[in-house]
Amino acid sequence: MSSSRCSLMLAAAVGLAVAGLATLSKAQSPSTEPNFAEAQQREFLLNAKIINYKQIGKGVTSPWRLTLSDGAVTHDAAFQNVDLRQAEVAFRQGPSEIGFRDFYGYNIAAYELAKLLGLSDMVPVTVERKWKGQAGALSWWVPWKWDEEMRQKQNLQPPNAEAWNNQVDKVRVFVQLIYDTDRNAGNLLSAEDWKLWIIDFTRAFRLHKTLRNPEQLQRCDRQLWENLHKLNAKELMEKTASHLSKGEVQALLARRDAMVDYLQRLIQQKGESAVLY
Ligand SMILES: Nc1ncnc2c1ncn2[C@@H]1O[C@H](COP(=O)(O)OP(=O)(O)O)[C@@H](O)[C@H]1O
Ligand SMILES: [Mg+2]
Repeated sequence: MSSSRCSLMLAAAVGLAVAGLATLSKAQSPSTEPNFAEAQQREFLLNAKIINYKQIGKGVTSPWRLTLSDGAVTHDAAFQNVDLRQAEVAFRQGPSEIGFRDFYGYNIAAYELAKLLGLSDMVPVTVERKWKGQAGALSWWVPWKWDEEMRQKQNLQPPNAEAWNNQVDKVRVFVQLIYDTDRNAGNLLSAEDWKLWIIDFTRAFRLHKTLRNPEQLQRCDRQLWENLHKLNAKELMEKTASHLSKGEVQALLARRDAMVDYLQRLIQQKGESAVLY
């Protein structure tokens, strides 16, 4: 396994928070991006014709970048079909993992979960689709300009630190909730207008009922806080059926409870307005 995968940067999101000057950036969207609602993106991903493809030379599982067209609109998507189970995997850094799983279905589950939590503007629309006889997850290609690795190397600072940090704290909650073991800096993508996207969840959804890095949780968006409370087994199982096992759903809900407790304690210590935003 490559060092970028193995280093398993314990939530690169730690390094994400910035305290720069707060000037508003003008929202930009590349002209090639069709003005599709989520349901249209889904429809497109499920049905548009695949007219071109190339392997993404980045990352370890080497997913494919497909070009799709429905005749009127042409757009790219990432196809990921990894489906691995291993009794134990040793990493170059950190402890080995028992019951290791790398699964494309977690990309679909992450999108469905993001929708339930009101975070679907941070996780690309993802569906299951077969390509060349292989089932996989097909994700809308998001218009990113820098991944977190590039941003840090080039020391680029978002113009609106508050808006950026508000996104980062949502990423942290999501990452802890899904017990993501691969939150490396290539999996956080920023658009030109500093809109943040989280991708690649194939090594998340572990069976642990405790949080991986609770200290990463500092603040929580109020709407997300409400939605976390509303999350329930029935709805989650319905939406993620065939991609998450019952045990994975139960573990996620146990982590949700642990997270709510953790944040509740922070609220008691620091006051609500320091934690909820
Ligand atoms: N939906 C997407 N939109 C834009 N870029 C993507 C998308 N999915 C993947 N990529 C790009 O492809 C790279 C590899 O994909 P990823 O899903 O992270 O696979 P790996 O398991 O190999 O890390 C990412 O780091 C990112 O640069
Ligand atoms: Mg990746």
